[in-house]
Amino acid sequence: MSYLAKNYNRKKISFKYGKGSFLYSSNGNKYLDFVQGIAVNSLGHAHPKLVKTINKQSKKLWHVSNAFQIPEGEVLAKKLAKKTFADYVMFQNSGAEATEAAIKVARRYFYTIGKPNKNRILCVKNSFHGRTLAAIYASGSKKMTEGFGPKVTGFDHFKFGDHKSLNRKITKNTAAIMVETIMGEGGIKVISDWCLRELRKICNKKNILLILDEVQCGIGRSGDFFAFEKSKIKPDIVPIAKGIGGGFPIGAVLMNKKVASGMTPGTHGSTFGGNPLAMAVGNAVMDIVSNKKFLNNVKNISKYFLLKLNQIKDKYPNVIKEIRGKGLLIGIQIYTDQTKFINKLIENNLLTIRAAENVVRVLPPLNVKKNEIDQALKIIKKVCSEIK
Ligand SMILES: Cc1ncc(COP(=O)(O)O)c(C=O)c1O
Repeated sequence: MSYLAKNYNRKKISFKYGKGSFLYSSNGNKYLDFVQGIAVNSLGHAHPKLVKTINKQSKKLWHVSNAFQIPEGEVLAKKLAKKTFADYVMFQNSGAEATEAAIKVARRYFYTIGKPNKNRILCVKNSFHGRTLAAIYASGSKKMTEGFGPKVTGFDHFKFGDHKSLNRKITKNTAAIMVETIMGEGGIKVISDWCLRELRKICNKKNILLILDEVQCGIGRSGDFFAFEKSKIKPDIVPIAKGIGGGFPIGAVLMNKKVASGMTPGTHGSTFGGNPLAMAVGNAVMDIVSNKKFLNNVKNISKYFLLKLNQIKDKYPNVIKEIRGKGLLIGIQIYTDQTKFINKLIENNLLTIRAAENVVRVLPPLNVKKNEIDQALKIIKKVCSEIK
């Protein structure tokens, strides 16, 4: 009998410990973990530097209220700002909180400049921005909102890739366009650099803010620190979470000076957000993942992984429809329901996770080794040969 609520469909595996790319289960199995808590453990399990950092900080100070100065947060905010487009950072604890706060920042900005009716957020239909009430209605997915009415209003939706519908849905009340730079849960769909540039142009022309949700695809996952970097555009607001904590719950909203002007004292807050323990870990993760050499490594290993996966796809064209993604945010689109495929991978000791559109999501840690990629490729190939 489990006293946990039944809101998850959990696999019957539990783990005793993890090290790097591997998880060790309670019944003695060793798994190659290409889920990593769904793109959370950016440096794998029990990274020595993170272990050392959390130990050290836990002996000094865990938590103080945001009513006081938090130097560790000042340091991390500065690092994030220096590395990115952002002028200011507001810390949270999770991705949903960060996306909700991003919406608040956008609305508050227009309120502050005397345009309170410019408050609607335009999102991609069936996207994913988290599970809080506003976030599920932002996602516009029936599956996520069913039974949770009354509807949280203020969101409009367009179809991914449908530029006409995007333009049609913009009104004088549109405050922001909010999209995931790479749709994660939605099936690893990448917004091209060209589209990002067009989005920026539309936003500039119509005085709309651009929010790029990098909760899943940010913090080095794409091979760049942010997935939008190659497009050379600057968004106005970027919610982050997952990878920045390396397994410790951290969220944040990055914003430019213009929009930050609305966030005056009392407009937003969080008891836990940005506490010293979280910030110590965030700083340690940031120092590693923001390093150019580290990111180049992600790019190189991704290139190899994608090439080899495409070769497997070519060998098994009846099993794999498409290899998707960027960096180490990779999707293998299967022709049939992916559950069987994922279960077969597990039987062969490789952990992956589903995404929409029959996609098997493959999320190694960013410091994954080439021989571990080779191990995963061997298993994927074997499963393709068995399933065809
Ligand atoms: C793009 C995106 N935004 C927001 C979220 C919500 O993050 P969290 O589960 O930490 O609330 C997720 C989680 O998967 C995500 O992928």
